[in-house]
Amino acid sequence: MDLKSLIRDIPDFPKPGILFRDITTLLRDAEGLRYITDLFAEKCVDLRPEFVVGMESRGFIFGSLLAYKLGAGFIPVRKKGKLPGAVYSIEYALEYGKDCLEIHQDALQADSRVLIVDDLIATGGTATATADLIVKIGCELVGFGFIIELQDLQGRKNLPDVPIISLVQY
Ligand code: PRP
Ligand code: ADE
Repeated sequence: MDLKSLIRDIPDFPKPGILFRDITTLLRDAEGLRYITDLFAEKCVDLRPEFVVGMESRGFIFGSLLAYKLGAGFIPVRKKGKLPGAVYSIEYALEYGKDCLEIHQDALQADSRVLIVDDLIATGGTATATADLIVKIGCELVGFGFIIELQDLQGRKNLPDVPIISLVQY
């Protein structure tokens, strides 16, 4: 399947100079959504995660689908102030700004096998910050999974040395 034809490019969003890779057009295509979910699961199954950690908000969509397919639990990493329980927090830089991510302190036990999932890796700031949270808790980070990788930004260079899976590269 031609996945790139299902991903829409929108220039100058959310800021001038950013070419936004829009996955909503992939999500609305029933065949495309099933295909990408099955492919993602096929590529990640050998990592045997007990938990998939997905980042707000687009990471929730693919992280949940993948957790379901792999028989793993799903844990949300949210933007500041959204989680109701006690949290660990970390600040990070985005391709187009700065933000803060949080995870519930009791969401994961040390030594759990964790796969970090997001829709897209650009600079790698979001994924690196999430990995820092997971490692701080003492979990075993088994890998990263992304639907889209923006290779020019070389985000994977900043990530810890574990398997990094991406399905569509630009
Ligand atoms: C986007 C995307 C990734 C992140 C990638 O999320 O979904 O999480 O940026 O960029 P990076 O590799 O440079 O960190 P965004 O923060 O825009 O939030 P959203 O999913 O709520 O739109
Ligand atoms: N997140 C960071 N950079 C992005 C881009 N170019 N398109 C979509 N999401 C993004």
